[in-house]
Amino acid sequence: MDDAPLIDPFARPITYLRVSVTDRCDFRCVYCMAENMTFLPKAELLTHAELDRLCSAFIGLGVRKLRITGGEPLVRRDILTFFRSIARHLRTGALQELTLTTNGSQLTRFAAELAECGVRRVNVSLDTLDPARFAEITRWGRLDQVLDGIAAAQAAGLRIKINTVALKGVNEDELFDLVQWCAAGDMDLTFIEVMPMGDIGGEDRLGQYWPLSDVRARLAERFTLIELAESSGGPARYVRLQETGQKIGFITPLTHNFCESCNRVRVTCTGQLFMCLGQEDQADLRAPLRAHPGDDGPLEAAIRAAIARKPRGHDFDYSRRRIDGQMPRHMSHTGG
Ligand code: 5AD
Ligand code: SF4
Repeated sequence: MDDAPLIDPFARPITYLRVSVTDRCDFRCVYCMAENMTFLPKAELLTHAELDRLCSAFIGLGVRKLRITGGEPLVRRDILTFFRSIARHLRTGALQELTLTTNGSQLTRFAAELAECGVRRVNVSLDTLDPARFAEITRWGRLDQVLDGIAAAQAAGLRIKINTVALKGVNEDELFDLVQWCAAGDMDLTFIEVMPMGDIGGEDRLGQYWPLSDVRARLAERFTLIELAESSGGPARYVRLQETGQKIGFITPLTHNFCESCNRVRVTCTGQLFMCLGQEDQADLRAPLRAHPGDDGPLEAAIRAAIARKPRGHDFDYSRRRIDGQMPRHMSHTGG
């Protein structure tokens, strides 16, 4: 069998896979979901066994970093069984990093076991330190639950990176509180520019758009920002605050792209492979998984064929999507 690593047509090695394991979540963040969501029927989702085969195939093809996302990955039933199983690739050295993005609500239950599996770092989404505001943004979440989860994760030895969606008029006044709080807890902090996502009703999310150029300018009023050259191969830029030593990230999926160093692809919870976050082209990996239960050859062929069409870069039509509010995919489906 062909075991050459995945390299796309623009000579970018694909070493980072993000996999959504569920579209469900125990929160209903206003920028992400409607309050009454219809979730996918279970039969549509990849099973644990299928997820394992899919991830293992990518690892066999050169993926070195695997991030599990959702929805909220830790609300998927028995998800630790999947983590325990896929962690075998850490022990062989085939996989260098196994990590997840979570809202933190289940970390008090799972942090220790995740650490035992070999997870070293966790990204936790947290937009505010104010309990009432937290309840407003997440609708169903409780701040305490997440803060306890973060504490449990740190006690288990996990490093935490906080992801904060910048929301105009919502968490604007907490910029420095969040920075200080993260510094005190030895956590990195990344701001994410809010993206218009589909029709999720209610809130005027356009009113909440807070450009990260402005977040950055305000940080520069109080701190010395040292530009860091490092790239994670994704849409994030980093600075170090000289005064605190902290690393601060800025993810601006709409206004910047760093496509030339893109090293990643995404798989939805139904097994659709998206080669680029900004484009609609996709490949169905569930079909070869299900049609050939005992043979990963067709799956690998489908992955290679898809990577061969990975586009050079983003093609967001910002102005149009802003106006009609349309982004055909939800973050909870594609997993960020
Ligand atoms: N814009 C920006 N970030 C979003 N997220 C979810 N929906 C959006 C959106 N519309 C974020 C979550 C989390 C990450 C997984 O994606 O807050 O930090
Ligand atoms: Fe859940 Fe994350 Fe979406 Fe909030 S942003 S509803 S925590 S998936």
